[in-house]
Amino acid sequence: EIFSMGKFDLGAESKFDALRPSIKARLLEVLGLAPNASVWAMTGCRGGVNEGIWFVKAHGRPELVLKLVKITRIATNIPTEAENFARLYKEHPAAFSDPLLALPFKAFRCSGRPGAKENDLFVIRKSAGERLAEWLASKLHQQQFDVVLRMMWDLGARLSEYHSRYSHLQHGDFTLSNIFFDESRNQFAFIDLGGMGIPTLDGDVEHFSKSLALLEKKHGQPRVAEWDRAFRQGYAHGTGNT
Ligand SMILES: Nc1ncnc2c1ncn2[C@@H]1O[C@H](COP(=O)(O)OP(=O)(O)OP(=O)(O)O)[C@@H](O)[C@H]1O
Ligand SMILES: [Mg+2]
Repeated sequence: EIFSMGKFDLGAESKFDALRPSIKARLLEVLGLAPNASVWAMTGCRGGVNEGIWFVKAHGRPELVLKLVKITRIATNIPTEAENFARLYKEHPAAFSDPLLALPFKAFRCSGRPGAKENDLFVIRKSAGERLAEWLASKLHQQQFDVVLRMMWDLGARLSEYHSRYSHLQHGDFTLSNIFFDESRNQFAFIDLGGMGIPTLDGDVEHFSKSLALLEKKHGQPRVAEWDRAFRQGYAHGTGNT
């Protein structure tokens, strides 16, 4: 099974915290990892809406990301992230083993004694490379403009393939912060997929263009327009433009 949902009992704890010894021990057990695996909390920009991000590394096993989220809905007609993953798994099971997508392989509803905070926890394989936001900043600092243009084209092509592979479901928040890039293998990974397929006002292409436009102040409109053109050309060249 490539995606499963379960419960995680907080025991005496009032909230999920992967660093709490009792929680950590049980977490490693349910993940089938050695008790001496390393668990550490993410510091720095760990995103705006999650309730916590941790990393897990056990000897000889791939590095994992734990993402804790609220279970309250934004609106009654919008599914929670967990419900959305469950629906996606039914409709597109192959997406869960697609290396382009950082979808969780486990989801846990965390709850404990009355009054304890309920959250959903997602276990995701860590994507290789770094966030495109940081990668881009360092390439621009080194004035590697050609490399940036090529990446934008490739990114457009990957997005287009993704759209055609999954019946044009949109990522939902396709920005530089929600894409990982492993330059050594020229490989992308789309992260933050809790809203995948949920209708939004603008599609992924428009949303990404808008996120690029925010960089005009710093890098100038002509240069950013060039990136946008490369991205859209890559997209048009991919297979999703039907
Ligand atoms: N699969 C992954 N591989 C590596 N790092 C990850 C992965 N998933 C999440 N992260 C790290 O955790 C951070 C927050 O994750 P994510 O973007 O899913 O959360 P978020 O709170 O929804 O963020 P946002 O503010 O974009 O809504 C990411 O910026 C990234 O640094
Ligand atoms: Mg994010």
